[in-house]
Amino acid sequence: MKCERNDLAVIILAAGLGTRMKSDRAKVLHEIIGRPMIWYVIETAKKVASNSIVVVIGHQAEKVREVISRSADVKYALQEKQLGTGHAVLCAMRYISEKIKKIVILCGDVPLLSSDTIYHLIENHDKFNCDLSILGVEMENPKGYGRILFAEEQQVSGIVEEADATDEQKKINKVNTGIYCVNKIFLEESVKKIKTNNAQEEFYLTDIIKIGHEAGKDIRILIMNDPEEFIGINTSEDLKRVEEIMMRRPM
Ligand code: UD1
Ligand code: CA
Repeated sequence: MKCERNDLAVIILAAGLGTRMKSDRAKVLHEIIGRPMIWYVIETAKKVASNSIVVVIGHQAEKVREVISRSADVKYALQEKQLGTGHAVLCAMRYISEKIKKIVILCGDVPLLSSDTIYHLIENHDKFNCDLSILGVEMENPKGYGRILFAEEQQVSGIVEEADATDEQKKINKVNTGIYCVNKIFLEESVKKIKTNNAQEEFYLTDIIKIGHEAGKDIRILIMNDPEEFIGINTSEDLKRVEEIMMRRPM
């Protein structure tokens, strides 16, 4: 499916400070083998939708914009306050053009993700003609990730974040990678309905799953095998681990 489609856009969430990195630098500017983390995600996004990429920036916005503009032509959505991933997507929606029907959402802190995996997600989304497809993975240590709540096989009813999970839910080892393919109309409608009634008082993008499930939408998960590809960098230990994996990888 490697041909580019003109009804597809990519939104990259990259506005956060990354409090858990314990650094003043915006998280996506931290370097992996001499390149800022965001560079890897942008290169992957370019292979999927080179003409329709929207990057949500906020923390050190000007610096992030400058770094990205050296290698890519994208649109920037400014999220002045980092109110959560759901709010970040809301900020991006106005930069999505009329002709777009499907949106792939990526996180700026998941740099090992490959474009082949995204193609696979889009293919699966098209095959089932669903409203939302989530990329999931089984992790031996799921700590820190949103846990998948299943309605039935491949059908998802919700995602519960670590901070909100019960002890029982914390045992679930199928996690959300933070990567989605979603129909634009459903995304537009559902992000507006997200509330902040959770432990972190944030607008969680993951709430669109429960919102959609309750409205009878078709929400599916595609479970991938290789947990390494989906490591989200939240701490300096994660950064080190990703750099080690990247060095082993054939480029
Ligand atoms: C998120 C998911 C979680 C998933 C994990 C995968 C939510 C609520 N949770 O959690 O289910 O398992 O990713 O890695 O979505 N960002 C903004 N603006 C904001 C907040 C975040 O642009 O207001 C960006 C960050 O810069 C980052 C990305 O969104 O690139 C993810 O945010 P982060 O705070 O790292 O989410 P997680 O807690 O990792
Ligand atoms: Ca993260």
